[in-house]
Amino acid sequence: MEGISQSRSLWWQRGVIYQIYPRSFADSNADGVGDLLGITSKLDYLSWLGIDAIWLSPIYPSPQLDFGYDITDYTAIHPMFGTLRDFDTLLTEAHQRHIKVILDYVPNHTSDQHPWFQKSRSSLHNPRRDWYIWHDPAPGSGLPNNWLSVFGGPAWTFDKQTGQYYYHAHLPEQPDLNWRHPQVREAMRAILRFWLDRGVDGFRVDALRHLMKDREFRDNPLNRGIGPRRGTFDTLSPLYTTDLPEVHEVMAELRRELDTYGTGGEDRLLIGELYLPINRLVRYYGEGNTGIHLPANFHLITTPWDADKIAQLIIEYEAALPPDSWPNWVLGNHDRSRLASRLGGVQARVAAMLLLTLRGTPTLYYGDELGMRDADIPPEKIQDPVEKNLPGQGLGRDPARTPMQWYATANAGFCPSTVTPWLPVSSDYATVNVTIERANPTSMLSLYRALLTLRHAEPAFSIGDYISIEADEANGHLLTYRRQWQDKSFLIALNIGDEAQTLATFALRGHIVLTTQLDRQGEAVTEELNLQGNEGVIVALQS
Ligand code: NOJ
Repeated sequence: MEGISQSRSLWWQRGVIYQIYPRSFADSNADGVGDLLGITSKLDYLSWLGIDAIWLSPIYPSPQLDFGYDITDYTAIHPMFGTLRDFDTLLTEAHQRHIKVILDYVPNHTSDQHPWFQKSRSSLHNPRRDWYIWHDPAPGSGLPNNWLSVFGGPAWTFDKQTGQYYYHAHLPEQPDLNWRHPQVREAMRAILRFWLDRGVDGFRVDALRHLMKDREFRDNPLNRGIGPRRGTFDTLSPLYTTDLPEVHEVMAELRRELDTYGTGGEDRLLIGELYLPINRLVRYYGEGNTGIHLPANFHLITTPWDADKIAQLIIEYEAALPPDSWPNWVLGNHDRSRLASRLGGVQARVAAMLLLTLRGTPTLYYGDELGMRDADIPPEKIQDPVEKNLPGQGLGRDPARTPMQWYATANAGFCPSTVTPWLPVSSDYATVNVTIERANPTSMLSLYRALLTLRHAEPAFSIGDYISIEADEANGHLLTYRRQWQDKSFLIALNIGDEAQTLATFALRGHIVLTTQLDRQGEAVTEELNLQGNEGVIVALQS
């Protein structure tokens, strides 16, 4: 697949995004929760690492029932995280280091404590009533229909005061806004402008596929697919509550708002959170590229970790991309089990090499660069509402949200030793931390830095062409491809399995520039390339 010329490429096409979960990154004021000044104090680390943009999960005022995804004021900062002035400082300091700042934008729902909802629920005739989705009780159970919440149970909650139900795709404390109401749309666009005027570089749009629901409130059909877990959202197919055609109108509207900023309208970035099959995901680029710049591609998280399946995924995704659209890849986030826990530490290195050499913008999740794993959360320390609602099903998100591990000292240097962090620090912090790994030339952190350094030095890895190579039968566990830009070409060979493999390189000759174990540098490659189990290798090819 073709790359682009360096002069035409945009920062978010060349760059690498790093997701920060602000509660867990760095606590500057010793209250056990991370904050904006904490993040600012770590910008030099991020700059050293080589990332180009940070995306912050929500930092707005919120009762924190869904840890910030329940917002009471879209244009302010939660005091726990700091002030608007602290935000401006973070933005300025990040920009000085050529790091862009992307905010989480949560358009689908507010907190039930948001003044809009308070007014909406106050009476049937309040002007804000229709800003949310209300419905009369149905005969029988009273529930207007069978729609389910992503977080378990019905998506409808009865409001005694006005005798109607309101809809919430997530917690009852997260009522969904009614995006069919023009005033809601205008109010939500104004929020984009507020932050764009302040200088933010883009938004990650939360829960985008949920934005519109069926006008006729039809029941969702039963999910006849792979055994859904009892009582969960997956027991129904969300035909009438997600991915409706009308979502595309909204997305184009958001895009138009961004296009009024920056040079050529491409300066500011929209990323959409979209758990969708590839054919439906790519529609979010919009007709003629008028939609979301990067509909987040989570398929590396959801596809079984097998060379053939990953190769198929890459082929399918590349083939589905509309003209002029730009790919992207994600390996981890605050909602999913950590990469090193899913794949194991050594294979996580191979995954890092894949992520940072594929064509498309990569997003890294904080701590994955250290090989942080899902932490054990004792029952009394559970915070996540999903784990509380659906206990023991492996859906809880706390294990992947524990404090960033900076030092080998108590609390991993996230907060002082005298303070109890909001979630426990993972028990491996004495060996898995920034300080120890920075000093170790073969650590996971050193690998990430080497990959990022290479990606920045060689445009082939970011904006270059992607050329797939069919692995032969004998090399079933190998995933191989080339990246090329002008006269520079690289072969990437990734051993997804445990056993050693040999790749016949035929006419290709060159030398190794990087391996996942950070060894073999400079080794000549002629005719064949030997790979250890779980090893990834990048070869600079002779032209
Ligand atoms: C997706 C976010 O990533 C998740 O953390 C949140 O709970 C839901 N959307 C609801 O906003």
